[in-house]
Amino acid sequence: MSTQLDQIAEQILRDNDRGGYTVPTPGLYPYQWNWDSAFAALGFAAFDMSRAWREIETLFDGQWPDGMVPHIIFRATQPGYFPGPDAWQTNKDPLSSGITQPPVAASIVRILYEQDQDKARLEALYPKLLASHRWFAEFRDPLNNGLVMTTHPWETGRDNCPEWDAPARNVDISNVSPYQRSDVSHVDSDMRPQNVDYDRYMAMLEFGRSAKWDHAEIASNGPFRVLDVGMTMILIRANRDLAWLAEQLGRDEDADYLREQIEKAESGASYLWDDTARAFCSKDLKTDLSSSLCTNASFLAFYANVGTTEQRSALLKNFERVASAATFTAPSTDPEHPEFDSKRYWRGPIWVVVNFMIAEGLREQGCEHQAARVQHDTKKVIERSGFFESFDPVTGKGSGGSDFTWTAAIWLHWARFAHSSTQFLEGQGA
Ligand code: GLC
Repeated sequence: MSTQLDQIAEQILRDNDRGGYTVPTPGLYPYQWNWDSAFAALGFAAFDMSRAWREIETLFDGQWPDGMVPHIIFRATQPGYFPGPDAWQTNKDPLSSGITQPPVAASIVRILYEQDQDKARLEALYPKLLASHRWFAEFRDPLNNGLVMTTHPWETGRDNCPEWDAPARNVDISNVSPYQRSDVSHVDSDMRPQNVDYDRYMAMLEFGRSAKWDHAEIASNGPFRVLDVGMTMILIRANRDLAWLAEQLGRDEDADYLREQIEKAESGASYLWDDTARAFCSKDLKTDLSSSLCTNASFLAFYANVGTTEQRSALLKNFERVASAATFTAPSTDPEHPEFDSKRYWRGPIWVVVNFMIAEGLREQGCEHQAARVQHDTKKVIERSGFFESFDPVTGKGSGGSDFTWTAAIWLHWARFAHSSTQFLEGQGA
């Protein structure tokens, strides 16, 4: 049964479709974003499977020869967007940024393939997915323990999470070229990163540009080198899903390679465990200091299926604490932390795509009750406020852009396909 909200969600995806790829939301984000597109494919799968595969295919059209999938692909020029292709100067075809984003694609492709065994499409995508995972192993695993190093907060997808405050403070901003932000003309500035954060983002971008986007150079000598708990957990999960896909295609050697990567990361994960925060946290490689901050990315350990028995039960307790400190869960920053801000990007608001991964992980670990809480809260904030980019965990009010692709996509996926869809639909539209 299709409800009114299902129809609105479907219409959002259709409206944000630019012909083979979707934009996250018109105006604020007028290009193709990496992990946004992967999640968009999940939404399309609810009503147009071929279009779902297409979204991933167009994303991988932007893959670099070294294997990296860029965080933005700049197709039609949008002069109002900053930093656009002129700032990045990567000279790739299609034009793109020079950094990546969380590698959720293989996990989404697995879901597509489970619904629609289109072997020809999988065969075509598979080597590209593998190359993108090998890129992480080659350029972003400096400790050779399976943990992902990021070189820019925008790569983490959690742009201005307080986890990046300390490492970013060490970035020299004295030589940043003058620039004009465009994001604050679309969204209230009290929701967006502050100007000093933006100066640091630009300093990191300029380092990459001056290194001519040589990823080995950026990884070794860049101004920002942080082990990101979110990308790490997402890559572990994606390696598991890619190994499964490899098996479907009879690529046993690849599956063995991927399993080695997974085992390495399973033991490597302990390096991110923070006993003060009782959570997996990001760690600055330059100072060896943990952020000691429990975020929504910490809870992705369930999705990655990592951690000792003690770590998992401490994390679950932490989840309960965070969930009861907020009206709606899961806030992007611990509500009891001094840097919590219910409105500002990734410093408090709920992000539906992260909720999706947290809920899937909790359910797989047998934490049905907690998974249902995440799913119900997601449903409630969307019913209350609409398909916003993110949501205030205290009031449930929508924040950031509206008519947002990935919020609509997760709604559609949960409403129509997930094993828990009956539960998700209960009371919908009431
Ligand atoms: C913001 C988010 C990032 C997302 C992008 C497009 O930059 O922080 O995760 O990919 O918007 O939606």
